[in-house]
Amino acid sequence: MVRNEKMSSAELERQRGFMNKVREINEEFYNKKGRRKKMHITTFGCQMNAHDSEKLHGMLIKMGYEPAEDEKDADFVIYNTCCVRENAENKVYGNLGYLKHQKKRNPYLKIALCGCMMQQETVLQTIKEKYRHVDIVFGTFNIYKLAELIYINHETNAPVFDIWKEHGEIVEDLPSVRHFKYKASVNIMFGCNNFCSYCIVPYVRGRERSRCSEDILDEIKALAKDGVKEVMLLGQNVNSYGKGLDENITFAQLLRKVNEIEGIERIRFMTSHPKDLSDELIYAIRDCKKVCNHIHLPVQAGNNEILMNMNRKYTKEQYLALVDKIRAEIPDIAVTTDIIVGFPGEDDACVDDTIDVINKARFNGAFTFIYSKRTGTPAASMEQVSEQDAKRNFNRVLDALNPVILQLNKEKVGKVYKVLAEDVSSDAEFITGRLEDNSLVHFRGDESMLGEMLDIKITDCKTFYLIGERI
Ligand code: 5AD
Ligand code: SF4
Repeated sequence: MVRNEKMSSAELERQRGFMNKVREINEEFYNKKGRRKKMHITTFGCQMNAHDSEKLHGMLIKMGYEPAEDEKDADFVIYNTCCVRENAENKVYGNLGYLKHQKKRNPYLKIALCGCMMQQETVLQTIKEKYRHVDIVFGTFNIYKLAELIYINHETNAPVFDIWKEHGEIVEDLPSVRHFKYKASVNIMFGCNNFCSYCIVPYVRGRERSRCSEDILDEIKALAKDGVKEVMLLGQNVNSYGKGLDENITFAQLLRKVNEIEGIERIRFMTSHPKDLSDELIYAIRDCKKVCNHIHLPVQAGNNEILMNMNRKYTKEQYLALVDKIRAEIPDIAVTTDIIVGFPGEDDACVDDTIDVINKARFNGAFTFIYSKRTGTPAASMEQVSEQDAKRNFNRVLDALNPVILQLNKEKVGKVYKVLAEDVSSDAEFITGRLEDNSLVHFRGDESMLGEMLDIKITDCKTFYLIGERI
């Protein structure tokens, strides 16, 4: 059993020491040059990475860097990478090529790479051979060491590679700068034990380990004091929360405790694996007023043979029965999903099964992906579908999905919903917010509304968002 030890306070103190040292170096730079060093973080991939980037941001601020609006103005650039699909990896290599020129323009520029891509041996090899202008490389298990790595690189003026094969202790209390003022993500667990046959995550994020509930609850209480109204509890498979902890706790019990925290108005979570979504969890979502009526429940595919080859451990029928059970208990719940198209062996009849699931489950939203072959995963050695067929299948799936989503959106027109105003739209006269069921809505407004829970009447809709007005 994995014991989820916490990082010793002595090690954390040591890291704080490195943050101070880098701060002094940056202060010296400021005294000489009359300007502060700027930093820029680019995040690829999922919400886990986005949340890790908030921690990187927090640490860099503590080290005396200022945020740069644009990467080209930065003296310290980090790519927090993703390797779930190949195109995210290609983007990183493309950007690195461009940064080589940037380094000629700015001799102070330092380039750091971290995240899931860096956990792969082949990637490290490529970087060492072809991208020698990279200064610092670290992985998913040791982001807390950023200051130490910056310091070593400064002292030695040589590239620093620090990749761990396995996770160490869970690190609490890293400084963090939140992207949003009113909503925040909170890790409840790390890693994944499911080994879906297409997925690289278990290899790069390690085995499942949960944070103890007291640390999670303390973090959320502090966020609430700081004005956060909505929390997103993050884990690759939140349904396994609590396994391996000394305390006896399930995810449903954790939700009930978070629901008690004063100041928090909305609780979301991601992601649930259909294979182990318990009745206890359904009842907790139903009973807890603050837990949003939304569940992200990746189906991945509709054909039973494909599901078996994906190692998903449920059938189409079991998935649909689960959605029915959830909807029977929580009638207004929105169900969203992930779908992979073009998995090895997928033919027209398999796509028919996926379309059948779409029509029966009536998803409120879906992330659809074309299968990407990941070296080292079992699916990489299965017989692959041609790119052309995968694209055709992809279009068929989108053509089935979009009308279902649009129809569900249309059913909201004319009704009034509570909306948390989250952001100013690119068109500055509009505010973007979310309904409890996670639907996106744009409405006329101004910055003063941000963070407010408003009554919004839905007046119109598109496939991917609603349009509303404040009443
Ligand atoms: N190719 C395409 N999509 C993938 N996902 C995971 N691995 C792959 C892959 N190799 C998708 C799954 C998962 C989401 C986060 O990414 O749908 O739920
Ligand atoms: Fe990947 Fe499956 Fe784990 Fe999700 S549950 S991270 S798809 S292995």
